[in-house]
Amino acid sequence: MKEIEERGRKRSLLSVHPLSPPILVIEGQEKINFCSNDYLGLAQDPRLVEAACQAARDYGAGSKASCLVGGHYDLHEACEREVAAFKNTEAALILNSGYQANIGLLPILATRGDVIFSDALNHASLIDGCRLSRAKKEVYSHHDLEALEGALKKAAQARKRWIVVEGVYSMEGDVTPLPEILALAEKYEAYVYLDEAHATGVFGKEGRGLVEYFEDQGHSLKTDRLWQMGTFGKALGSFGAYVAGDRGWMDYVVNTCRSFIFTTALPPPVLGAIRKAVEIVPQESERRRRLWQWVKMFQGVSPIIPIIIGSEQATLHIHERLLEEGFFVQGIRPPTVPRGTSRLRLTLSASHTQEHIVAFKKVLERG
Ligand SMILES: Cc1ncc(COP(=O)(O)O)c(C=O)c1O
Repeated sequence: MKEIEERGRKRSLLSVHPLSPPILVIEGQEKINFCSNDYLGLAQDPRLVEAACQAARDYGAGSKASCLVGGHYDLHEACEREVAAFKNTEAALILNSGYQANIGLLPILATRGDVIFSDALNHASLIDGCRLSRAKKEVYSHHDLEALEGALKKAAQARKRWIVVEGVYSMEGDVTPLPEILALAEKYEAYVYLDEAHATGVFGKEGRGLVEYFEDQGHSLKTDRLWQMGTFGKALGSFGAYVAGDRGWMDYVVNTCRSFIFTTALPPPVLGAIRKAVEIVPQESERRRRLWQWVKMFQGVSPIIPIIIGSEQATLHIHERLLEEGFFVQGIRPPTVPRGTSRLRLTLSASHTQEHIVAFKKVLERG
């Protein structure tokens, strides 16, 4: 701790209390939240809350065991069917969090003799998943398709090749060029592992993610080399993660993925909320329309808008000043982002009103 403190890197937990979104209370004062991942404003939606309560009344507060030892209720199975339909895949599995999904799936997919090609700005959970894998790792610069192709060419002798990317980069807010990545995978007989934590619910006409988004734009994507995972803790307002694809692939996960096998199944209230969110998200396009209206006002390409400050101290200072003005925006520092790129990571939500957005923009523009 001493070392961390001396480097000015100490981080502490902040106790916040959510009121009606996007308002929360910090140290007795109301602030407008500009850093949650609740992009569609569903986390406190009364329908999700009631679905969680109903699942608790019907099934209890806990699932009592791991999925393979009796914790996989009919509720989990129904949820997986609905998620597969939402993702337009043959099957899906629910995992306990995005972090657990990435550290469990990557090691069973990419193994000894394989090569992983990992985008340099991938999320920590993807990096940890790659570290746990026995495959060789090649990190290529962010979105650099030429570098990726060069590395793929060199790895022609590998048993399998895995390209690991995020759909929407959690700290950059930019979007992965999925059609080009899939084309490279096809050309070099590679597989693509796509983390849609920040794309699910937000991208595509019905919020089904990047495949839908690019197909909406007229691309015709071949997805037989694509493993898609995403989370329910962000736009879907709940908790947990999914992996979606062929049934045979899901069988392999059930039989080998340690972070799926050796953990208690998600509790029924969480499943209740997920199911309600999966029902609402494709239907309520109005939420996405409003969200994208705010994104355009910030000239963003996703609801994640990074404002790069550079220095860690300056970032903290601006965070404090914004908080005094009534806006809660978290400052993000190394090791979460590379050194010298400390930033404010502001996020937009359908729960923001025009007044919130205009007021916040005014404060930012004033400097
Ligand atoms: C890209 C990405 N993947 C995975 C995760 C982890 O998901 P979860 O919060 O469900 O563990 C996050 C953030 O939390 C993320 O930003």
